[in-house]
Amino acid sequence: MNEAMADLLAPLTESRRAHSIAVGRRMETVAERLPVELRGDAITAAYLHDVGYGYPNTGFHPIDGAQLLQSLDYSPVVCHMVAFHTAAEVEADVRELDASLFDEFRVTEVAGLDKADDLLWWADLSTGPNGEQFSVDERLAEILERYEPGSVVHTAITRAEPWLRAAAQRASGSM
Ligand SMILES: [Fe+2]
Repeated sequence: MNEAMADLLAPLTESRRAHSIAVGRRMETVAERLPVELRGDAITAAYLHDVGYGYPNTGFHPIDGAQLLQSLDYSPVVCHMVAFHTAAEVEADVRELDASLFDEFRVTEVAGLDKADDLLWWADLSTGPNGEQFSVDERLAEILERYEPGSVVHTAITRAEPWLRAAAQRASGSM
């Protein structure tokens, strides 16, 4: 993690920062499975995937993070990975946000980006809220316990679970 990334993570809570750094490190251990030109961006996106918590704008952290990083000239791949991380579209739908918020962060025709997305989702889903190493089962159970039934995140994770598990399985299947 470079100094610019550390500075960007500074406003996050200590636990979210620890989680972010652990997800970034996790990505560093698997990035070699990606096309070489995607590795740096995948690692950057992993360290910064939750940066939006520190820079609220819409109040939805994946989009807030992507908007922040876009304003700082991070690459479209980094902004895309942050915007869409860990079934963000499902949570946006539960929040009744306008789906067009994602449009500027869609990236097509970058070979291997689907795999980079899977690896980020897997890294996020196998890292606990304080940076612990978790199984995907433990992580999903932990989120469902931390957020009350009926809350946005609880509802979104419940709805997104098959999608999350599929991404994590594709990622771990490629290891
Ligand atoms: Fe997140």
